[in-house]
Amino acid sequence: MSFDLVLFGGTGDLAWRKLMPALFQAFRHGSLPAGGRIIGVARDDLDDAQYRELIQARFDKVEGAKRPSAEEFGRFAALLHFVRMDLSQAQDYARLAATLRERDADTVVMYLATTPALFTTACEQLAAAGLNTPRTRIVLEKPLGHDLESNRAINATVRAGFGENQIFRIDHYLGKPSVQNLFALRFGNALFEPLWRRETIANIQITIAEDLGVEKRGAFYDNTGALRDMVQNHALQLLCAIGMEPPINAHADAIRDEKLKVLRSLKAWTPETLAQHTVRGQYGPGNANGAAVPGYREEPGVDPASRTETFVALRAEIANWRWAGVPFYIRTGKRLAARDARIVVNFRPAPHAIFRSPAGAANSLVINLQPRDGLELHLLAQGQDNRQAGRAAPLSLAPVHLDLDFDKRFGSERVGAYERLLLDVIDGRLNLFVRSDEQEEAWRWVEPVMEHWRTDAAGPRSYAAGTWGPSASSAMIARDGFCWNEEC
Ligand code: BG6
Repeated sequence: MSFDLVLFGGTGDLAWRKLMPALFQAFRHGSLPAGGRIIGVARDDLDDAQYRELIQARFDKVEGAKRPSAEEFGRFAALLHFVRMDLSQAQDYARLAATLRERDADTVVMYLATTPALFTTACEQLAAAGLNTPRTRIVLEKPLGHDLESNRAINATVRAGFGENQIFRIDHYLGKPSVQNLFALRFGNALFEPLWRRETIANIQITIAEDLGVEKRGAFYDNTGALRDMVQNHALQLLCAIGMEPPINAHADAIRDEKLKVLRSLKAWTPETLAQHTVRGQYGPGNANGAAVPGYREEPGVDPASRTETFVALRAEIANWRWAGVPFYIRTGKRLAARDARIVVNFRPAPHAIFRSPAGAANSLVINLQPRDGLELHLLAQGQDNRQAGRAAPLSLAPVHLDLDFDKRFGSERVGAYERLLLDVIDGRLNLFVRSDEQEEAWRWVEPVMEHWRTDAAGPRSYAAGTWGPSASSAMIARDGFCWNEEC
């Protein structure tokens, strides 16, 4: 099967950091179908040879095994081409059309790795230039809009030119091996299903913590904030994966229908829950990885009086028979104590205690997403002989855990998120992509929080870089009688 992958934003940050390395890994693993072209598109004045040199410079910075040898890069570079285009200029699309006609590939992928402000124009112009053939697939990076209305407007334009089965909306968390294993855990094993409900589960905690600050993306981030950047998409997709009903099969729409039901069942916000179940924070100066780091407002590109949140903690509830009353806590932020993404499923304690065990001890399942990828099952066991001086003391239990490390088990050179998703686009597999109704529903749920924060004079609470966020986040969960799992 021949393919042309057109990378709009071909010299941009995403292509540089994620897409080119992913395409190279797919090439190295032999999974990129033979006979393809990768066509970078940008406004820069480059020819194919100069584009190849630019990409080579990127790989020259790579250390270790991921760095291609000269011979390997030479073979990969033969796939790379460049077309100079200004996406706002209708006549430039003719140049692209001419390049595509040279091959007439079986599949043409249009990957919009540009600023979202160009999505609508690019889709309209692609359609106007007749580049929306049935063989075309279009890939849209997040963020798709900044609220429900703008999201709908973008989706309407894209759908005017392309069928829903040609539209691949990326949420790269769905491509992570750890997230696929979450689906495998839930729907490939019968063990957990009977326990996966309100009768046995006390609460679920979803944490996506980053130790990095906003890096070079200050200007973008200051207009976005953690709620739009991480919660509306990645965190809610994780919530869907953990809370959805088993789909009837593994087809894209069966999975997406179930995720949509979860989003639709999220309990609506009230003035009380907005006040009590949402926390926003902003990092101040502190320490990261042993070095002093500036606060958010001192970062380049950030307004020194910014009220943008770099931390969010929320309490959500899925109002259905399976989950009614079970709190789902979501927490994400930049410059936190560690890079650590995990989901903790806390089970209820044994109903009747016949052993002595530490206060509040109960079972939990920790699903480590990154940097470690694996499962820990926390149990209680009798580790030591309780007999003292010949007298039997009451049996007491101590926490122990079973630890499954997927990197050790399957090797850490597994297929990365972008590699996986790019190959899925080329193969036309939509399972790991987000449908427009899911996106809209997620916006609908976060919008009242956005509105509450816009009008709330208090602003975000400050937290020191290198900590777990403002203390209000611990207070929020403590009101239910629980604690974040690293605090308990
Ligand atoms: C992106 C966000 O979607 O995800 C970034 O825009 C964030 O702000 C990134 O850093 C986190 O991705 P990962 O794969 O490093 O956890």
